[in-house]
Amino acid sequence: MSRNSNIEHTQLGGAEEEFEQSLRPLGLDEFVGQVSIRENLNVMVQAAKIRGQALDHILFSGPPGLGKTTLGHIISRELGVTMHLTSGPSLERKGDLAGILSSLEEGDVLFIDECHRLNTVVEENLYPAMEDFYFDIVIGEGAAARSMKLNLPRFTLVGATTRAGLVSAPLRDRFGLVTRLDYYTHEDLTRIVSRSAAILNMNLTIEGASEIARRSRGTPRIANRLLRRVGDYALVHQSKTIDQELAAYALSKLAVDSLGFDYLDRLYLDALVSKFDGGPAGLDTLAAAIGEEKDTIEEVVEPFLLQLGFIQRTPRGRVATRQAFEHLGIALPSKQGSLV
Ligand SMILES: Nc1ncnc2c1ncn2[C@@H]1O[C@H](COP(=O)(O)OP(=O)(O)OP(=O)(O)O)[C@@H](O)[C@H]1O
Ligand SMILES: [Mg+2]
Repeated sequence: MSRNSNIEHTQLGGAEEEFEQSLRPLGLDEFVGQVSIRENLNVMVQAAKIRGQALDHILFSGPPGLGKTTLGHIISRELGVTMHLTSGPSLERKGDLAGILSSLEEGDVLFIDECHRLNTVVEENLYPAMEDFYFDIVIGEGAAARSMKLNLPRFTLVGATTRAGLVSAPLRDRFGLVTRLDYYTHEDLTRIVSRSAAILNMNLTIEGASEIARRSRGTPRIANRLLRRVGDYALVHQSKTIDQELAAYALSKLAVDSLGFDYLDRLYLDALVSKFDGGPAGLDTLAAAIGEEKDTIEEVVEPFLLQLGFIQRTPRGRVATRQAFEHLGIALPSKQGSLV
């Protein structure tokens, strides 16, 4: 399973996509963890319902697989409105935006994934739609061309991005709530895995769930996928119950280590630690060394390693910390001054 598939989730195979959807929490009460986000959303949704008005626009940011799209669906469901799903890169022209905006009904949710990748023309046309609920259309051509305002129903824009820093300030300022999803705790992930196992009719012990959770990189999507792989393993080996031992064994076969690092994490760390003596190494250099896209490194690999304190971003480049050396079982280089 390639880590890229976490970003390009639209390219997921049909079976994986179906699997994800079957496990998606439907209401805020089923959504595990992220307590303060859940509380804020609950208040906003209730208030919108009492006022009988559309919910304010909301921006979710955070690494792939933490629940941004899920929250979009949950909000729409709680409001009892339709969610229209699109993404920054697929809105190529102004006309694409006009098309989707004109299909909205009062109160509907427009979910724009990867909203840091909207092109300038589309983004500028989105501003009046978000702020004053109108869209400028141009009728005629040349000297006879004139602009007309098309009124839109009040709708809620829910934006999602893996790169909050790349969302332009004017766009970000037009959201009523800007919120960041964090990696999940081990406890939350254990609950998520147990919940998924129950939905899938799998016999998973709490220790088994805890083992899968521990190796899930703080990410519900990964937790669910690992559960599925462990389930495959149990099926083939005719084990009725998945306990800690079986989970640990199956996961080690999948080359997921005790911290949940997978192939790409290790490749990155190994390059930084071994090839570049722990750094500092620039992103371009690292990307070239491991043959991976810069975006994937910045959006997927580094956030988790930063969170664990395995790397640091410095003005001179990426630096591996002592913990990274220790985890890889590699002796610290003599130039310890550069180590953090
Ligand atoms: N808080 C949660 N509780 C239970 N399950 C969750 C939670 N968050 C996410 N999931 C599960 O993880 C899967 C991935 O979540 P989702 O698709 O919403 O992530 P995302 O943030 O939109 O990722 P991407 O950036 O790749 O689009 C969902 O199908 C859902 O089953
Ligand atoms: Mg998503």
